Amino acid sequence: MKELEGQVRTCQLCRLAKTRTKAVPGEGDVRAEVMFIGEGPGYHEDKQGRPFVGAAGQFLNELLGIAGLSRESVYIANVVKCRPPQNRDPMPDEIAACAPYLARQMALINPRIIVTLGRYSMAQFFPGERISQIHGTARMVDGRMCVAMYHPAAGLHQASLADVIRSDFRKLPIFVEQARLMTRPPIEVAAEQVAEAEEAREAVVYEPETSAVLEESAAYKAEIPTPPVEVQAVAAPESEVAPAPASRRKKASEKGAEYKQLSFFDT
Ligand code: URA
Ligand code: SF4
Repeated sequence: MKELEGQVRTCQLCRLAKTRTKAVPGEGDVRAEVMFIGEGPGYHEDKQGRPFVGAAGQFLNELLGIAGLSRESVYIANVVKCRPPQNRDPMPDEIAACAPYLARQMALINPRIIVTLGRYSMAQFFPGERISQIHGTARMVDGRMCVAMYHPAAGLHQASLADVIRSDFRKLPIFVEQARLMTRPPIEVAAEQVAEAEEAREAVVYEPETSAVLEESAAYKAEIPTPPVEVQAVAAPESEVAPAPASRRKKASEKGAEYKQLSFFDT
């Protein structure tokens, strides 16, 4: 896990590497029975390099208490390890580039239960499901119990949800008891999932061997508004300046024939 954490902290495999302060590999007990998977780091997580340390993290701590769990006894990770700028949703190619880290964490920890926090995490285990329908319920996915929970931040934004989330977490000890009666999935299953995730990563990452940052997909470029000229003219502290979309576009086109289209998500 230490080695993996080191790889994450220096990872350059997607564009989020350019805007992050610190990558957030995850933390907790490597032999945890319960593994929580959030979406991605927010402002405070990006500053500290630790998961769930902001307001949502405070609420998560309360929820863990309700479930009779301590932060030290569980493992907490995220779908993407670097903060998307302005807390935008992570993009499919970023999720695919990052997925092997999560797959390897799951393989190392081999938890009895995975608890997904929010939509993006849920989508990895309950594709096509709606959080409003399945929150607080458990399913067996590839031989492992998975429980979908609302993201703690949802409870902060919508007061009526906070109590729903609390009562969902109250059920967690029962699920843990049930999961203890089951055998954990064999290591071969985890190894296969790591291999699959690594294959999918290769489809979106430009030169994975050399850790070159992946080039921008057409969809991503289309989403970036061209910054007004005045904004470009404003002098900002070096460290605060994000790479301008214009220069990113140029870089992609400069690659010419070498540039690898990210057709994986276009289909
Ligand atoms: N929200 C998340 O999904 N993950 C964190 O680590 C923090 C906030
Ligand atoms: Fe960060 Fe993950 Fe992207 Fe690597 S692939 S830069 S760890 S978000």
